[in-house]
Amino acid sequence: MNVKTRSYCGLLNKTDISKEVTLMGFVDAVRDHGHLLFIHLRDIKGIIQVVFGRETDQEAYELAQTLRSEYVIEVHGLVSQRKEDTTNPQIDTGEIEVLVHKLIILNKSKTPPFMISEKGFHDSDTIPESPVDEDIRLQYRYLDLRRQSMQQHIIKRHEIIQTTRQFLNQSDFLDIETPILTKSTPEGARDYLVPSRIHEGQFYALPQSPQLFKQLLMMSGFERYYQIVKCFRDEDLRPNRQPEFTQIDIEASFIDESFVYSLIESLMESIFKSQKIDIPVPFPRITYHDAINLYGNDHPDLRFDMKMVDVTDLLTNVGYSIFKTIIAKGGIIKGINLKGQASKLGKNTLQNELAKDVITKLGGKGLTWMKVEDGKLASNIVQFFNESEQAALQERMGAENNDVLFFVADTSHRLVNEVLGRFRLFIAKKQDVIPKNFHKMCWVTDFPLFEEKEGVLTPMHHPFTSPSEDIRNITDPKKLLAINARAYDLVINGEEVGGGSIRIFQPEIQHHLFKLLGFTDTDIDRQFGFFVRALQYGTPPHGGIALGLDRLLSIILNTPSIREVIPFPKNRTAMSPLTSAPSLVSDEQLKELHIKHIQD
Ligand code: AMO
Repeated sequence: MNVKTRSYCGLLNKTDISKEVTLMGFVDAVRDHGHLLFIHLRDIKGIIQVVFGRETDQEAYELAQTLRSEYVIEVHGLVSQRKEDTTNPQIDTGEIEVLVHKLIILNKSKTPPFMISEKGFHDSDTIPESPVDEDIRLQYRYLDLRRQSMQQHIIKRHEIIQTTRQFLNQSDFLDIETPILTKSTPEGARDYLVPSRIHEGQFYALPQSPQLFKQLLMMSGFERYYQIVKCFRDEDLRPNRQPEFTQIDIEASFIDESFVYSLIESLMESIFKSQKIDIPVPFPRITYHDAINLYGNDHPDLRFDMKMVDVTDLLTNVGYSIFKTIIAKGGIIKGINLKGQASKLGKNTLQNELAKDVITKLGGKGLTWMKVEDGKLASNIVQFFNESEQAALQERMGAENNDVLFFVADTSHRLVNEVLGRFRLFIAKKQDVIPKNFHKMCWVTDFPLFEEKEGVLTPMHHPFTSPSEDIRNITDPKKLLAINARAYDLVINGEEVGGGSIRIFQPEIQHHLFKLLGFTDTDIDRQFGFFVRALQYGTPPHGGIALGLDRLLSIILNTPSIREVIPFPKNRTAMSPLTSAPSLVSDEQLKELHIKHIQD
């Protein structure tokens, strides 16, 4: 191999014409014209066409005829200008080619289980979007990662990590590692446990986040910490969740919320700029309550408006019996306005698809719709609303011709918010009204400190989040549920990308909060003894945030799931089709770890 004289396929350009070059890479595609053989040669920098023809000696030509996709080869040849009618705009090097006179096959390849090439030989060649089953792609991930689009994802991941490091280093943050074999940190998911061989019957937990360690580092006086760190959570999987994922984890001392907002806004500006995307800063802020009331969830998609509007007060005397009954029982009616789409939604779709199937799947009991036609409301039930009610509805909803209004009513205010919020997203996607290639960030602020889960008080973020006021004299659970936390989430395009808070730094308040959550003194000592002890030795006020790197990348690269931006992800059932992890282990290993199978 001529390592020293090697050039990269994708870096050659017209200035290299007439140069002798040595290239190494994978055979991306082969096209045999009888007396001329064209190969697309691919390396990490791109693709170039190499030609076996007149310049090639007979022996090399015959060898070239044995080439198949994914063979690893070395070629020596002359860079030449292509004739105008043979250029290929699909590849960056499409105006040049290399006329080969020497070929070395460095390695052969079996026929891959799916096509790796993504570029055609000509502009007109269309290579179908990979319809390959995802588990097959994951099983042969090393081949899947050879595809240029996947290589771009991994390269951009690298770039964004480097930009983040550079930004945080320049802002005086120290990159400090924290343990992976550790003790449970409550972030709301189940722990992955690792049995100890030496300590019989005892387990390490893999960190759900470095939360407690980053706070300990503040107690140690480091002031500004960051880490790009793996976290582990055993929870139900979704397209934006992995059991093992990466956080950009940040903590700082002697700061408040405004420090975190402007730090992260500048970091985001740098990250997006590294991908040639300009984003406006500062990001708008919306309170948790407004997010729930206007958009139905705490991670609102603000790329489009379509706010939820309460119309209950306009319909207190309405003749429509479903609404009447719900209002009588203290219920609520909320609507959204889908602008300019009435002509695109037929009665059958509205009545049979949306108001029956879709709304039920979204967890609702019913959906009322009204089109606006000739300045008037039109639907199957509009006759049950008198003229002034119709006029008031139109005004409140900002209804104009060709709009469609949708209403959800229920005795449960929570259900109305959740279902109409889901429907808002559903209908916006279905009618394709969400702007593309556009990033809309916001901070969600003023979260409640607690939520009630099955009658039990639980922290909405984690139990280290500072309340917005002293809670030590509050005993009434209702009042406690109304207390806010000094917590914030970063949301981009309706996806929670980051979460953090200003922390409790006074040991008495931390202890009080654990007690409110139902921990006994023994529990506190067993689970958090080390942490509560540390708080007592002069803890500076501090706070921070963690950003989900995989989610951020997936949004920037516009991929359907975070699996597309992770080199070796688990599949939808939390297993790796590549390595078959998790897998059974030998009886000896189990014995050493003091573990026995329990038969059900
Ligand atoms: P939180 O639990 O909100 O906060 O996590 C921070 C961010 O991590 C990402 N994330 C995930 N990404 C992929 N797969 C998952 N299973 C997953 N779970 C979370 C999300 C989320 O916003 N210690 C606190 C941070 C702090 O308070 O500073 C924490 O971990 O993008």
